[in-house]
Amino acid sequence: MAVDKKKIDKIISGYENSEESLLAILQDFQKEFSYVPEEGMEKLSEVLGVPASKIYAMGTFYKALSLVPTGRHTCKVCTGTACHLKGATNIADVLSRELKVKPGETTKDGRFTLQTVNCVGACALAPVVVVDDEDYYEGSSPQNIVKNLKKYK
Ligand code: FES
Repeated sequence: MAVDKKKIDKIISGYENSEESLLAILQDFQKEFSYVPEEGMEKLSEVLGVPASKIYAMGTFYKALSLVPTGRHTCKVCTGTACHLKGATNIADVLSRELKVKPGETTKDGRFTLQTVNCVGACALAPVVVVDDEDYYEGSSPQNIVKNLKKYK
């Protein structure tokens, strides 16, 4: 899907043309488009005079930024050690099957992006699945998680 270039220009024009604005602009792209579009990085490179490779590196370094389109909801299956020992792999497999995507991919309807992540810091509640970085589903069976995902539209 094409990205609205006017929105890209509008975001960039809200900042000073300085390399220091780079991260803030990338974060705004992420907020506006749910990812950092290539068109945005190219424009930024042109306007700020920063090499595209540097912008790309920044986009891959910061976890809060995604260079590929993400779904309306992110579903993160923790596969850290504690969660792994309590069946996280099975949860990831079941969700993969249910959503018909591999970890890192987005469902065709754009509803979910499935991810596997390292320890989310809630080991005592393992296994943990986090939706949209705020809803923690803990100690759950794959079936329960699948059921819980139904409420996200
Ligand atoms: S290993 Fe999953 S929360 Fe720590």
